[in-house]
Amino acid sequence: MSKLSQKHLLGIKDITAQDIHLIFETADNFKDVINRPIKKVPSLRDITIANVFFENSTRTRLSFELAEKRLSADVVNFAASTSSVKKGETLLDTVNNILAMKVDMVVMRHASVGAPHFLARHINANIINAGDGTHEHPTQALLDAYSIREKLGDVTGKKVAIIGDILHSRVALSNIFALQKLGAKVMVCGPPTLLPRYIANTGVQVETDVNKALAWCDVANVLRIQLERQQIKYFPSLREYSIYYGITRKMLDALKKPIVLMHPGPINRGVELSSDAADSHHSIILDQVENGVAIRMAVLYLLAGSAQ
Ligand code: CP
Repeated sequence: MSKLSQKHLLGIKDITAQDIHLIFETADNFKDVINRPIKKVPSLRDITIANVFFENSTRTRLSFELAEKRLSADVVNFAASTSSVKKGETLLDTVNNILAMKVDMVVMRHASVGAPHFLARHINANIINAGDGTHEHPTQALLDAYSIREKLGDVTGKKVAIIGDILHSRVALSNIFALQKLGAKVMVCGPPTLLPRYIANTGVQVETDVNKALAWCDVANVLRIQLERQQIKYFPSLREYSIYYGITRKMLDALKKPIVLMHPGPINRGVELSSDAADSHHSIILDQVENGVAIRMAVLYLLAGSAQ
């Protein structure tokens, strides 16, 4: 079995371009598997995986669970909202109690930056970061880059604009790391108040005019306004945001060039994307979701075979 260079998947920053290519090649095989009438393989038959979610999720939690079941792993699901966390139990106690039940791998989403890194220092299981606060969401970036490779044949040399609320987005940072490791050119675009000051230091181009970003790019990856993470007002109103930064089908059609439209979900329809754009032929949003299962199967399979 080929191996990743890391025992955990905490962030794209920690893995190599070679790791990413290995994940993609493994996902190609699993994508064939999940399109067969019998979608299951016995690869992780003796492995038990806990999905530990301290924040809400639809796509990530369900696609990890499906990926685990397609690989024949035993799966337990933990939602903080219905757990003893509500009685004051700590993160470390919670996870150690789950591990005492002989769990091998932990998939964790947490609102605090660095929570999976903390766990990785204190417990013995493989940890997969399913999103830590505003920091990283590595499997989202992998499935995004994989979807670009699938649609355009390659990621190298492609121009990708990440448009929207960059400041509060874990998807943005993981995408920047993944795309740069794969040789893409990356631009971020949004209102100045939603562009973090450090972002230019990552080597990306920075743009505040959405029409210029669309004219420049081959791929527009549009991010949601994360109101739940905003303690202060970063723009006057959602209506004003939509007027200046909302992307419509008319804007995409007017480009007179092919453009690939992506969004990690959940979409705020009518805010960052109009429905006619989200549902247009430019969009590969549901392909991203489909690819999420194959990518997560690949990550789980490869980590299970990585150095302990
Ligand atoms: N893209 C993403 O992380 O979606 P969920 O929050 O629904 O998992």
